[in-house]
Amino acid sequence: MAERPIVIVTRKLPDVVETRLRELFDARLNLDDTPFSREELIEAVKTANVLVPTVTDRIDRGVLSQAGPNLKLIAQFGTGVDNIDLETARNRSIIVTNTPGVLTEDTADMTMALIIAVPRRLTEGATLLKSGANGWQGWSPTWMLGHRIWGKRLGIIGMGRIGQAVARRARAFGLQIHYHNRRRVSRRIEEELDATYWESLDQMLARMDIVSINCPHTPATYHLLSARRLKLLQPHAYIVNTSRGEVIDENALARMIERGEIAGAGLDVFEHEPAVNPKLLRLDSVVLLPHMGSATLEGRLDMGEKVIINIKTFLDGHAPPDRVHPAMF
Ligand code: 8YV
Repeated sequence: MAERPIVIVTRKLPDVVETRLRELFDARLNLDDTPFSREELIEAVKTANVLVPTVTDRIDRGVLSQAGPNLKLIAQFGTGVDNIDLETARNRSIIVTNTPGVLTEDTADMTMALIIAVPRRLTEGATLLKSGANGWQGWSPTWMLGHRIWGKRLGIIGMGRIGQAVARRARAFGLQIHYHNRRRVSRRIEEELDATYWESLDQMLARMDIVSINCPHTPATYHLLSARRLKLLQPHAYIVNTSRGEVIDENALARMIERGEIAGAGLDVFEHEPAVNPKLLRLDSVVLLPHMGSATLEGRLDMGEKVIINIKTFLDGHAPPDRVHPAMF
């Protein structure tokens, strides 16, 4: 390995993170933040000792098959690793790490914000005043009525770290917590969250008022909320997604909201990011955010710190703390 390992970072990171990366490594940064093309990614995996990609980089089999012999570590700046072909990385003895834990509270905050914003028509009201259109005539008893969330049933799909953090917040807002997960969580956690486990996702969906998606995107969760499953929801139900767009059949969702078969949605992620389904853009009962779930300065600094610790530990010959194994997903 070169004396100063070559660390290629695909996107602009906060200044302090970049400064530290430069101090420690031969860091090749992307200061103007233009996403790498496929050719640039291939060039990067040929050159680097360590690659630091993000959710916007598709590190698939084709890219990894061109990796040079020096590429030993992919230290993802992010928790989700669905942009990386983990099997191919393992077969080529390339270790993959991510940044779990430090995004949990921020993402749960944004999820809770959407759980409130959609039924209470928050952005509709705010946009109306700012746009100056439809001039507000003053308060009226029937103006801008939304729906109460207190006492409603929240169904959380994916009761990992983020799902549990959402449940904790939602309980404080008086929601009843229900969840579906590959495995039932411990009795202690269920008791703490007063959470009801549903082994059958279908049965849970049919009974919820609000559904929050907090599971990772994997081959098994691709279109988990398929058109068939979306039809199980009651017409007054809302969906919130801060996980990955691919977990929902976005076209079917837009169609059903348009027809009034589902009441609305709060979406921070999209199936074909950065493209947003034009049908969704036309719907009033939908709150759309541009993948901001973990977008806090504090969160990004913590993520950078994790990336640096993972690289440093690995280069020092130890097991990096946040190693990802394909079987985890
Ligand atoms: C990050 C995320 O901003 O970490 C994740 O999985 O979805 C985001 O909140 C992004 O992935 C950074 O790569």
